Amino acid sequence: MKDIFHAVAVTDRVYWVGAVDWTTRNFHGYFTSRGTTYNAFLVMSEKVTLIDTVKAPFRDEMFARIASIVDPGKIDYVVSNHSEPDHTGCLKDVIDAARPEKVFASKNGAAALERLFGLGDQVSVVADGGSVSLGDANLTFIETRMCHWPDSMVSYLHEDELLFSQDAFGMHLATYQLFDDECDEATLDFEAAKYYANILLPLSSFVIKTLDKAGSLGVNFRIIAPDHGPIWRRDPQKIIDAYARWSAQVRTDKAIVVYDTMWKSTELMARSVGEGLTAGGAKAKLMPLEGSHRSDVAMEILDAGALIVGSPTLNKQLFPTLADCLCYLKGLQPKGLLGAAFGSHGWSGEATALIEASLGEMGVEIVSAPAKSRHAPDTEELQQCYALGQAVAAKLKNR
Ligand code: FEO
Repeated sequence: MKDIFHAVAVTDRVYWVGAVDWTTRNFHGYFTSRGTTYNAFLVMSEKVTLIDTVKAPFRDEMFARIASIVDPGKIDYVVSNHSEPDHTGCLKDVIDAARPEKVFASKNGAAALERLFGLGDQVSVVADGGSVSLGDANLTFIETRMCHWPDSMVSYLHEDELLFSQDAFGMHLATYQLFDDECDEATLDFEAAKYYANILLPLSSFVIKTLDKAGSLGVNFRIIAPDHGPIWRRDPQKIIDAYARWSAQVRTDKAIVVYDTMWKSTELMARSVGEGLTAGGAKAKLMPLEGSHRSDVAMEILDAGALIVGSPTLNKQLFPTLADCLCYLKGLQPKGLLGAAFGSHGWSGEATALIEASLGEMGVEIVSAPAKSRHAPDTEELQQCYALGQAVAAKLKNR
């Protein structure tokens, strides 16, 4: 590993010593189509300080990058901003190798590290707003509960105006281009939004509180260094503004039509709904689950105004892909959506009622009676689907 993996300078005193995971495609049901990075940072102050670690399989890569700058045994302090194992998988190895003077975490972080790794008695709990001197630099810790876990906190390095933001402001993107100004901007915009939709959307009220708290600190964020994806140094305010927008769940005139089909009947209905939406002035996007992952649907829901769902009835149930997708979306707790249901059936046709029940649990306002068809939609039933799309579009326009 030595002489292969190197640290990357972020500032004169801060180095990236993380790992690039080109293979992972699943983060708790979220399809991470571009892999990810686990970012760890070394602050080369008088007190050599490691901020976060990496997922366990990447231990050797992280240690090699640290060793390219300093003997890992010389690490004085370790900060654990977030206890989820993608950032603490190597914490015990670091403690064993470095015997650091202090390991800092929030109170909830210490409790989680005890439950996960039996490390609680080795952690020094830091207060919300508390600071520690690194000798020639100073770190302040700010709790960011539920962004992403109850333990989460961020660390601010005053001298470099650098925020170590753990999961917040991150994205799942494997890349050797570690800074935003080295990456394709459209890719960053997409992956940051997808990450927010799939991880932070249900925690939006906490994101709003955290942004308010950050604003009240009266400090500059020249650099934001998250634990996943590129480091924001060109325009850190851009991702802060995006979080403010996403957490407010501002809705647009976009309508998502999510469906699956057995014999193309529900698909034909979906296409009629899409035509009706478009004729009514909405921006329709059809998402057949045969080719769309649940996490892609979640990404589209981030700014959609309506969620229209179509399913065949299979053995008196929803089609399994729809049940999966609706369960996942319900957990993300989107607010302020309009919706409707449609679907074909051979016998009893329970699917549309099940969809409406599920949308109701999500707080979706049902705009139209469901459109149903037996076996294959005839012209009149397709016109009902078209009218359903028009009704949703009209409601989107007038709210
Ligand atoms: Fe990247 Fe919540 O862990």
